[in-house]
Amino acid sequence: MKTVSTLKELFQARSELPGPVGLVPTMGFLHEGHLILMRQAKQTCASVVVSIFVNPTQFGPGEDLESYPRDIDRDLSLLEHLGVDLVWLPTPEVMYPANYQTWVEVSDVTQPLEGRYRPGHFRGVTTVVAKLFNAVRPDVAVFGQKDAQQVAVVMQMTRDLSYPIKIDVVPIVREGDGLALSSRNIYLDKAQREAATVLYRSLRKAEAAYLQGERSAKALRKIMTDTIETEPLAGIQYVSCADRSTLEELETVTDGALLSMAVFIGKTRLIDNWILTP
Ligand code: PAJ
Repeated sequence: MKTVSTLKELFQARSELPGPVGLVPTMGFLHEGHLILMRQAKQTCASVVVSIFVNPTQFGPGEDLESYPRDIDRDLSLLEHLGVDLVWLPTPEVMYPANYQTWVEVSDVTQPLEGRYRPGHFRGVTTVVAKLFNAVRPDVAVFGQKDAQQVAVVMQMTRDLSYPIKIDVVPIVREGDGLALSSRNIYLDKAQREAATVLYRSLRKAEAAYLQGERSAKALRKIMTDTIETEPLAGIQYVSCADRSTLEELETVTDGALLSMAVFIGKTRLIDNWILTP
């Protein structure tokens, strides 16, 4: 496994990789939810490139950029074990050199949900993902369904900017009790960790109602809200039942609709989602 930092080193190492090349973008502090993306990339690609970069431009002013968990040594040993070919660890100066001025912005699909509560977040995500795509020139890029709106936004950008890149999406990896794996779960103390399962429980309750024939999106949003509100440590930011591609709120639930939410457990903001399949 090769590890590079500068663009020059990256271009040299990239040119030596047999194709098809798969890219897995990450911010590091890797867990099973990341590793499954790399296994997916290995299945369809001859070479796998992983980027680790805590992208400052996707964090808002009061967010956790400084405290975002990092453990590069551990990450590299996990990636080595998986048989990843190339790891790119750009510094902030490599990604955003002095006098940086260019941004990639996707309009409609970035507006609701996460975009509403994290203004500027997706501008940072699409800018860095476009830069990763341009530098690595992968044939396939793998993303997790954990960040459902990120998937919709990246797919929109890939189409709009004509990137010849296939976007693969991997289902959410969860703990035994349903909590979606996230680097931010380490912020939770014991009581909060227990409370955090309420996101998953609310999704499953709404799904059960859907499977019993409920087709009112408002009713499903209410089931999720009511369930989350039974948990004293939880504070809802949003609860949604939307089209999974446009992220517009639905009135009548269609197959493939996306249930999603952002919930504070103490100071930790957790997101989760579920796709309704008949
Ligand atoms: P990060 O939060 O590190 O996540 C990297 C990838 O892992 C994303 O595609 C995310 O959806 C996926 N992932 C995280 N937890 C997962 C889980 N429990 N199950 C399945 N997939 C999971 O997302 C980002 O970084 C950044 O926004 C990035 C795309 C790297 C741009 O900076």
